Amino acid sequence: IGMRLILLLTAAGAVSALPPRNVRRANFDALPADTTDDKLDLVFASALWRHGDRAAEHAVPGCDQFPEDAWTFGGGGYGELSPEGMKMHFDLGRKIRKRYIDDQKFLSSAYNAKEIYIRSTDYNRTLVSAYSNVAGMYSGFGIEGQNFPTKEGANSVPEWPAGYIPIPVHTVDYGTDYVGHPDAKCPRQEQLYGLVKQSPEYQSYINDPQVAQILKYLSDETSTKVTIDNIYDLDDPLFCQSIHIEELNQTDANIADFYPWYYTGDIPAWAAWIIDQDEQFTDGTGNPGGVNGIDVSVEIPKIRAGDTLKLLVSNVDGVLKCRDNMDADACSNFYKKLRYYALSAHDTTLAAFLTILGVKKYIIPEGYPNYSAAILIEVFENRDTKDRFFKVLYHADKNDDFKPITAFVRGCDFKENLCPIAVLDDLVKKYAPDTDMATLCNTPVDGTAFATTAQLVTGSTTSDVPVTTPKTTIPTTHQDTTTSSVSSISLLSALSVMISSFLL
Ligand SMILES: *[C@@H]1O[C@H](CO)[C@@H](O)[C@H](O)[C@H]1NC(C)=O
Ligand SMILES: *[C@@H]1O[C@H](CO)[C@@H](O)[C@H](O)[C@H]1NC(C)=O
Ligand SMILES: *[C@@H]1O[C@H](CO)[C@@H](O)[C@H](O)[C@H]1NC(C)=O
Repeated sequence: IGMRLILLLTAAGAVSALPPRNVRRANFDALPADTTDDKLDLVFASALWRHGDRAAEHAVPGCDQFPEDAWTFGGGGYGELSPEGMKMHFDLGRKIRKRYIDDQKFLSSAYNAKEIYIRSTDYNRTLVSAYSNVAGMYSGFGIEGQNFPTKEGANSVPEWPAGYIPIPVHTVDYGTDYVGHPDAKCPRQEQLYGLVKQSPEYQSYINDPQVAQILKYLSDETSTKVTIDNIYDLDDPLFCQSIHIEELNQTDANIADFYPWYYTGDIPAWAAWIIDQDEQFTDGTGNPGGVNGIDVSVEIPKIRAGDTLKLLVSNVDGVLKCRDNMDADACSNFYKKLRYYALSAHDTTLAAFLTILGVKKYIIPEGYPNYSAAILIEVFENRDTKDRFFKVLYHADKNDDFKPITAFVRGCDFKENLCPIAVLDDLVKKYAPDTDMATLCNTPVDGTAFATTAQLVTGSTTSDVPVTTPKTTIPTTHQDTTTSSVSSISLLSALSVMISSFLL
């Protein structure tokens, strides 16, 4: 027991050694409410969301429960959006409608092709989430004969689903989608992960004896090799199955009855803890002092979300240039009437973007963004001074509304809900790639060379299959993760249970 206690002390010490996050969390509750100022005109809004609830990506390793054909919704098979996931996005679309159409009278009530642009990663569940979301935004509010066919007369469609409006969703090849897919093909990112893995911070994490003990336990139970790199592949299907267990088994089954070896004691908490630690190395924040003189806390986010930031800011610039002068050459047609741009993507996309904004450690210190989590970025102009500002809001999950988080953004004033637009340019200077992503990804980190040129990015891939980085700090299938319910508190309470049983 004494040995076990020391091991737990080590691990709990590592978890609880995050005082800044607790301090900022407390302040989060004290943030000013979402205020409006009638001198400020909303001029552009952008949304970035995660898809809704979905099927597992594969079975639990080493277990034959619930193979692919057990998943029947969303077209059937692994990874598809469920009807619950469609509802999450329909509801989010309704909330967006309320904010921008009902409350702020910013967008037209009926769908207007020049006003909005919707982009999705080329993944079934993100595409279907986007369709569901815009259905929530506009369906039922269209004009018969304009937004959809009439019920009577020439070219009528009496069977047309009531009020349904088809709305375009754009996409690009997934393998080289650096805007929506943080793990798009990138030899430079693989090199950076290689560096991270050599760092003392990473080494002390993987050499933690308690971590090794948990991994060995899970390996024994599944008869597979569970490692830091693939433990997510165990946790994620369990999470998805747990949500759908009753429909999967057609009974009022309990997930713990299928996997008693997992749902026991602190095993789920430890698995989540290990995944959370890993995530910090993946997003570049696990090495605040850099590695071998390379600032991975900038270089990794630049690859994972630099292009996402670049797209956002180029949209803002495009809209503002037209606002300055509609007739100037700098005002391109696309932006003349554009007011709203949305990107339908993955938890990894949101996590990487929140990392660049500097807010991830406050908003989601553990786990990944929930299903249908969303970030809104709004740009305002003061009618008198013409000064421009932006506001950032976060929608944590289906039960949440949009909460302003601007105060947490790197470079913004902690007491304010609005931040000068120049702060976005500072973020671009630091985190946006100054070349295109293919060039950046083909550029080795200083003082190194790629092991082989075979991995270089050569433009669009023709395959629909996601191109992923080799096994590094996270599993290659890491498109989505669950939200961990673990907190330092639960680990500390596990510790105090240990202490009390030790004392007894
Ligand atoms: C998407 O759906 C297609 C069939 O339409 C299927 O072949 C493919 O496996 C699915 N892929 C993803 C990544 O969602
Ligand atoms: C799963 O369903 C079967 C019937 O199809 C039932 O016998 C079994 O008890 C269920 N499992 C659990 C753990 O509830
Ligand atoms: C997910 O949503 C729940 C509320 O249902 C919230 O407590 C939790 O913090 C959210 N997680 C993240 C990572 O945002």
